[in-house]
Amino acid sequence: MKLDAVIFDLDGVITDTAHLHFVAWREVAQEIGIAIDETFNEQLKGISRMASLQRILQHGGKAEQFSAADCQAIAERKNARYVASLASLTPDSILPGITELLRDLRARGVRIGLASVSLNAPTILNALGISSLFDYCADASRVVHSKPDPEIFLAACQGLRVSPKQAIGIEDAQAGIQAINASGMASIGIGADLTGAGLLLPSTRELNWQQLEAFWQHLHPASATVKE
Ligand code: BG6
Ligand code: MG
Repeated sequence: MKLDAVIFDLDGVITDTAHLHFVAWREVAQEIGIAIDETFNEQLKGISRMASLQRILQHGGKAEQFSAADCQAIAERKNARYVASLASLTPDSILPGITELLRDLRARGVRIGLASVSLNAPTILNALGISSLFDYCADASRVVHSKPDPEIFLAACQGLRVSPKQAIGIEDAQAGIQAINASGMASIGIGADLTGAGLLLPSTRELNWQQLEAFWQHLHPASATVKE
């Protein structure tokens, strides 16, 4: 079976915005008397803005204390801080190995997709200068179910017109690995603490075409990797 597409998560895979999300949430949570740390933050990766806020409120034992309008205002405050921190992004903010991998995939005719639940994804790809390298970006504003539901990965496959069985997804979040696996795609995890990934790499430094090709051939021993 041929590898038709590779679908990337954004935050924590293409650039280190996962950390910027954490910093913005930590500040806003502190304002409402809730402390969060990096360990707790692992649970927020891949989770939509409002669902992240709900988890933070529950973590602080304050789930019942805020109205829907309060939650909206808190989420907007978090986003304003997060968006302000995005001003620091440049093409140098792309994580190691990613630019080379995107170029290698294009050179081999493997389609490239994005499956991020971030409403800020288009702004970030523009700031990094790599929007044109993506054949299709799933629209986070149309996604009803956040990861670990496979919806956004299936939307990306549909937009690329590829079968999930002929695609690889790449994620740094546990919820993201679950979403990829549930979609029927093969999964690559970035980060030491993830479980369930078909291939687990410590960082994007180890993520390259040779790794992907070897992984795909391991899954599909008799297949050619590149489209004829
Ligand atoms: C995901 C991040 O990519 O996007 C989450 O992993 C974040 O941490 C989510 O909450 C939503 O992002 P945004 O930019 O729409 O608030
Ligand atoms: Mg991520």
